[in-house]
Amino acid sequence: MELSFKIFRYDPQVDREPRYEVYRVRAEATERVLDCLNRIKWEQDGSLSFRMSCGHGVCGSDAVRINGRCALACQTLVKDVAQAEEVLVEPLPSFRVLKDLVVDLEPFFEKVRWVQPYLVGGNHVPEKERLQSAEERKKLDQVIRCILCACCVASCPVTAENDRFLGPAPLVWAFRYIFDSRDREKEKRLRAVDTQDGAWGCRNHFECTRVCPKEIPVTKSINFIKREIEKVLR
Ligand code: SF4
Ligand code: SF4
Ligand code: FES
Repeated sequence: MELSFKIFRYDPQVDREPRYEVYRVRAEATERVLDCLNRIKWEQDGSLSFRMSCGHGVCGSDAVRINGRCALACQTLVKDVAQAEEVLVEPLPSFRVLKDLVVDLEPFFEKVRWVQPYLVGGNHVPEKERLQSAEERKKLDQVIRCILCACCVASCPVTAENDRFLGPAPLVWAFRYIFDSRDREKEKRLRAVDTQDGAWGCRNHFECTRVCPKEIPVTKSINFIKREIEKVLR
């Protein structure tokens, strides 16, 4: 089939205003939007900028907004967007555009770093590995799938209004270590997110959960953090 792609274009170095450009692409129904973007870049317009790496839903780098919904271009099939007269492809909202579909993710990664996304094992160093039961590990099963694509953050209405809000993915990473039986800083971690810009900033809109390409129960995880704060700190 032949599809029209209407793509957001903006190079702040030379353009005064963003604009949209339309490209016609031939594609199979089972191909992905990323295949179409690549074909546009290779065959029609080498100046189009977007990020990609793995091509298989692992690296999280090709998150964009497709027909108004944040998603991975490599996971979105042509047959699922072909109903639209034109497939609209835009950069993730709530982020500064560096060029075309490429946004500045640094403020996002800064917030992820802020929650200390690594295990703090304490002074006691075991002779071998730090053991964890299968049941304890199970608690982390779903959140451990996060690939830091930022789709959830870009879709969160609270993030859009308040850039101090930690946001869904950083809270998912906070969950990941708060509930890790081997971590020794649970209380400190809970105190850090016990704020209006932390866990309590989430207003249960569920947008994050709806768009997450790894099907992580994001809102539910944030609510678990809130419950744990009530249990441990109050
Ligand atoms: S559930 Fe919370 S974090 Fe997710 S989109 Fe809504 S307000 Fe944002
Ligand atoms: S929680 Fe889901 S949507 Fe958010 S960054 Fe992780 S994988 Fe992406
Ligand atoms: S290119 Fe890596 S997740 Fe899509």
